[in-house]
Amino acid sequence: MRTKSILLAGNWKMNHGPADTAKFLEAIEVKEKPNAKMRLYVPYLSLQAALESVENRLLPIEIGAQNVHFEKSGAFTGEISAPMLKEVGITQALIGHSERRQYFNETNDTVLKRTVFALSQGMEVLLCIGETLAERQANRTEAVLEEQLVQILAQPDCLSAFGTKLHIAYEPVWAIGTGVVATPEQAEAAHAFIRGLLAKKLPSDQVNATRILYGGSVSPSNFAELLKCPNIDGGLVGGASLKLDSWTQLWGLL
Ligand code: PGA
Repeated sequence: MRTKSILLAGNWKMNHGPADTAKFLEAIEVKEKPNAKMRLYVPYLSLQAALESVENRLLPIEIGAQNVHFEKSGAFTGEISAPMLKEVGITQALIGHSERRQYFNETNDTVLKRTVFALSQGMEVLLCIGETLAERQANRTEAVLEEQLVQILAQPDCLSAFGTKLHIAYEPVWAIGTGVVATPEQAEAAHAFIRGLLAKKLPSDQVNATRILYGGSVSPSNFAELLKCPNIDGGLVGGASLKLDSWTQLWGLL
């Protein structure tokens, strides 16, 4: 049996500027748990406000960025680099979120480049993958997940980082922000498939240590069932991470 190390991660997307971030983190009460971590991926502009509150209040919450570029610096208007994030004390990043893929032309190639560079800078990456509704309906879920991971699984620096600096979030696109959550059976099948892909390339201790989070309409009413699945190691939560009550309820379920 795998021992799970749970991660409850919130993805605030383009919500909560510095003032709202400080308000949220000044009000939150978080009891530490032996086998679970809390993390919030906040907008770039809110990172420092978040860090300040977490440090002042000694909160057991990790703060991360929602993306990171694949170069150190240069002519990339609107982008943020790993050294910049590290300069303000951020070492966690989300990469490949479906909204980045859908609205900002991120591809498996750019996701790979961002991941490889972030890892080379000592950052920890939560890599997001997941199929669209059309792909699921065409019975292509497993093929898509494999396509999204094949380059990562061929890259030695990514391979060696799994289980320590590299973890995965499975987020079916049709479940994100829709209120339609994957059933525990659907989610577990995808998670087991993903873990199986890792197992073809990695020793079992690394496969077991790699967190695979579920994301897509996670709420206090469905999280406990999802967490019972053997291959689900936590949640990546959008909407329900924005309000204190739903967010602390999710933590209370762990
Ligand atoms: P949701 O978003 O919980 O609002 O569906 C999840 C995500 O996009 O990470």
